Amino acid sequence: VSLKSYNTFGVDADARYFAEVNSAEQLTEVLKHSNPQNPLLFLGGGSNLLLTKNFEGLAIRLNLKGITEQIINDNEVFVTANAGENWHQFVIFCLEKNYGGLENLSLIPGNVGTSPMQNIGAYGTEIKDIFESCKVLNLETLEMEIFDLDKCRFGYRDSIFKQEGKGKYVILEVTFRLTTKTHRIDVEYGAIQSELENMEIINPTIQDVSKAVINIRQSKLPDPKEIGNAGSFFKNPTIPLAQYETLKQKFENIPGYPSGDLVKVPAGWLIEQCGWKGKQIGNVASHKLQALVIINATGNATGKEIFDFSTMIIDSVKEKYGIELEREVNII
Ligand code: EPU
Repeated sequence: VSLKSYNTFGVDADARYFAEVNSAEQLTEVLKHSNPQNPLLFLGGGSNLLLTKNFEGLAIRLNLKGITEQIINDNEVFVTANAGENWHQFVIFCLEKNYGGLENLSLIPGNVGTSPMQNIGAYGTEIKDIFESCKVLNLETLEMEIFDLDKCRFGYRDSIFKQEGKGKYVILEVTFRLTTKTHRIDVEYGAIQSELENMEIINPTIQDVSKAVINIRQSKLPDPKEIGNAGSFFKNPTIPLAQYETLKQKFENIPGYPSGDLVKVPAGWLIEQCGWKGKQIGNVASHKLQALVIINATGNATGKEIFDFSTMIIDSVKEKYGIELEREVNII
């Protein structure tokens, strides 16, 4: 079965076996009857996935749908979405009900079920800020478990599901704690402020913040429906303050966001400075408006080509700055 329509890079790779499930019960049934020798690949929105070869196992597309709400108090509601809900449609659903907390995360590709894996984040918010819990299926015991905030061990683009829990659980549903009346509007991120100014809005609502984020994203991030991509391909690296200061002597303009004795350096800047922004090799390119995004420029790129392109970027950034970029995208 071709997985081309299940990964936002639009890479044409096959899975030996394929199943689509609409409920936790169906998933458990499929797993009970599948050959334990087969490796498993769970497909959500496919927005963080690079298939570098055919997958010799069972790919399972998680298509669990449904959203439920539970009022907690005067100003808060728990909203639970099943894993197969599209992330942005879920954000819109909440904004239409005037539930606050997800607005800065508008227009992120992918599904709700994969949002905790890498603690998706943008424009000053990460899901850990509004996360209540998630329900997972333990693949060893086939029992359901609840993971609360602490248990998920969220970090920058990181969680237990990328560390010790890797390959051990399938996320079935996620519950967020959102506000219903008094919202925490977060417009600290510079780009949001300038966009709100453009929009001539002084006291933004959560819907305004969402609109601003959508405008910013549409202005520089390619729509995977038009050009295959997986958003940021690399994480923004953090380096020791001392290393940053040494680099600063040589490269005066190097941006950095300090936190404690570490400094986060925008990978997009490093990649651009190495001459990659907008550059195309074969079917693959770095996006002309955001160097951190690698695109399937012709639509015909193989996963291997994309992977090799990313290796060239890593090597040149390493050579010029001594910083080793880490891929954010899940490589299969
Ligand atoms: N920059 C460049 N050249 C570029 C791109 C960026 O010089 O081509 C520099 C600029 O100095 C800019 C800075 O990088 O000020 C930051 O750029 P931007 O605001 O676009 O954010 P980012 O650090 O590149 C991160 C996330 C994005 C998220 C934005 C906004 C990561 C790996 N990426 O990108 O997430 O949307 O912040 O919060 O942390 C994603 O994960 O797929 C994603 C798009």
